[in-house]
Amino acid sequence: MRIGVLTGGGDCPGLNAAIRGIVHRASMLGHEVTGIHEGWAGLLGAGNVAPLTSANTAGILHLGGTILGSSRTNPARSEDEMRQVEENLRRHGIGALATIGGDDTLSVSAKLSERGAAVVGIPKTIDNDVPHTEWCIGFDSAAQVVGDALDRLHTTAESHRRVMVVEVMGRDAGWLAMVGGVGGGADLIIIPEQPVTIEGVVEHVQRRMDARRFSIVVIAEGATVEGTETIDAGGRVDQFGHPQLATRGIGTRLAEAIEARTGVEARVTVLGHVQRGGSPSIFDRVLATRMGATAVEWLHEGRGGVLTASQGLEIVPVPFAEVIGHNRPIDARFYRLVRQFVLDEEPIGEG
Ligand code: F6P
Repeated sequence: MRIGVLTGGGDCPGLNAAIRGIVHRASMLGHEVTGIHEGWAGLLGAGNVAPLTSANTAGILHLGGTILGSSRTNPARSEDEMRQVEENLRRHGIGALATIGGDDTLSVSAKLSERGAAVVGIPKTIDNDVPHTEWCIGFDSAAQVVGDALDRLHTTAESHRRVMVVEVMGRDAGWLAMVGGVGGGADLIIIPEQPVTIEGVVEHVQRRMDARRFSIVVIAEGATVEGTETIDAGGRVDQFGHPQLATRGIGTRLAEAIEARTGVEARVTVLGHVQRGGSPSIFDRVLATRMGATAVEWLHEGRGGVLTASQGLEIVPVPFAEVIGHNRPIDARFYRLVRQFVLDEEPIGEG
């Protein structure tokens, strides 16, 4: 069998480790692998594919980005493009697909699978918001970047008695803000799932400044702070309809509002795509290797239409139907930590 592999959506550390895992396991089981370039775009038109072998995937385990390239191309927008995808799979003799992506790539995978293709999805996104998997490839590495940035910002914040606002990625989900923020000792974490008011933020920051000399506020790019205005993304959306939030300026607006209301100097750091770059953590390398190898094993057994979900110490198959169109709510056990160690409030609930 020939297995096609693609990486779609925003890149992240660990994609190459997954590709390597797929090629390694496939060659052990006697299958060939074809690399599809630039996400779904590589299956449109004449197609843009090339063989992946043990030789051309050697030495990529520790490399960030993706040797296949990625895009936010969405062929599910048109029946004609879905047909082109299927035609290219046929033309290149690809009998099964391993797709490495977030909710968008996985939604196209699910549609292809409904139409009869053998597809296994592998979850990756620094947002960590794919349902039913505790970990997505790339999240751990990105959270480390946030934590490292907070360590650095602590010292300069203290020297100047400033409020440091740190804007992190996270369109709809606050995982990166929460985990990076708790691990990096943030004083306040603002996430998309829980809108706050500027009054609440200012009160918290003021309390913190009275107790110590500085304050570190982490805010996810998709968060809402009532009482601050953000910039309209100018209607720029990708093929899946997502606005470009980095242009929204929530971190800058928040820093301005805090400074205006507290009189304390505030500065903003937008971590942006730094969070998506660099080498994967050891955790992400191992996770990606396991998910890649497992995807091949399932395709080898004739099992498709599922996601390689990380649950506890296992990689388990979760049907696309249970993943697509669902959110991943904040984990109450984790949010307990935020309440206790960041908000200084009594934790509520189990955990
Ligand atoms: O989907 C992952 C993500 O990193 C989001 O957190 C962020 O909003 C988006 O990608 C940025 O995408 P782009 O690289 O297309 O600007």
